[in-house]
Amino acid sequence: MVIKAVIPAAGMGTRFLPVTKSMPKEMLPIVDKPVIQFIVEEAARAGITDVLMITGRNKRALEDHFDRLPCLEEALEKKGETLRLAEVTRSSGLANIHYIRQGDPLGLGHAILLSRRHVGNEPFAVLLGDDLIDEEECLLEDLITVQKETGGSVVALMEVEPEQIGAYGCAAVRPVSGRDYVRITDLVEKPTAFEAPSNLAVIGRYVLSPAIFEVLETTAPGRGGEVQLTDALRTLTQTPEAGGGVFGVVYRGRRFDTGDKLNYIKAVVSLALERGDLGSELRKWLQENIDSSRPVPARAKHL
Ligand code: UTP
Repeated sequence: MVIKAVIPAAGMGTRFLPVTKSMPKEMLPIVDKPVIQFIVEEAARAGITDVLMITGRNKRALEDHFDRLPCLEEALEKKGETLRLAEVTRSSGLANIHYIRQGDPLGLGHAILLSRRHVGNEPFAVLLGDDLIDEEECLLEDLITVQKETGGSVVALMEVEPEQIGAYGCAAVRPVSGRDYVRITDLVEKPTAFEAPSNLAVIGRYVLSPAIFEVLETTAPGRGGEVQLTDALRTLTQTPEAGGGVFGVVYRGRRFDTGDKLNYIKAVVSLALERGDLGSELRKWLQENIDSSRPVPARAKHL
């Protein structure tokens, strides 16, 4: 049974500077809830009870968010604000949350390796702290099921346009007879469209065999001088006898990379439109203000 999850949240967030100079991008709000809470809620829905967060320089906001805040709770209770009180206490009861600090952001693979002692010798989930998956979908549950069936490592894949594949790890796959998952035969980190073996991109959900740790120990820094998780998984695709092989589940639902500005804005607008308290007013405002006949203001050219 998979009960532990690792959430790496120690990246530099350079695509979201300058705000990420003083706060982790995982704390960016989707209206009033930080991205990281959506991720921990998703893990809890899939049966995870133990979360290890890999944090970086700006860890305090993350820790505070999942901690109790007695003075605020008392104040809300006194005022009879029961709904707000429930929202405030909700984040601290989702799972047992532990933290490890990654001194230097030496890569996603390095961040995962730091969790070795905490995870031990059992399969575990990895959820990237900036990757938002639709709450209606059961992607993590599906990955856990496939891990149990195969005994290997399982990654979530998504079809992307050829010009986008260079932003992801890309998988070469072959079908598994009678199953709705695939076997991954090779992986390439951020390939050119020419190098890419498929249009299947690795996205931020994994259920990994503990065999990954042994491989990460000896994985040299790869692209960008960082220890890449994709490189370690690639080794597992070549040595199935060591780690049970690597499998992929193709996800077809909604996903937002909230570490990317445009994707973040899309996430905020999409989820706000679905809210009972904001949706209809926001829709009206958007309809009134999106006027394609209006010329782009001159100042926009300088941005
Ligand atoms: P990203 O590449 O999306 O994060 O890493 P980043 O490096 O913060 O992004 P940019 O490109 O500079 O904007 C994927 C995930 O891995 C974590 C990140 O926090 C993110 O959740 N990560 C990455 C670490 O925890 N440590 C690292 O050394 C690198």
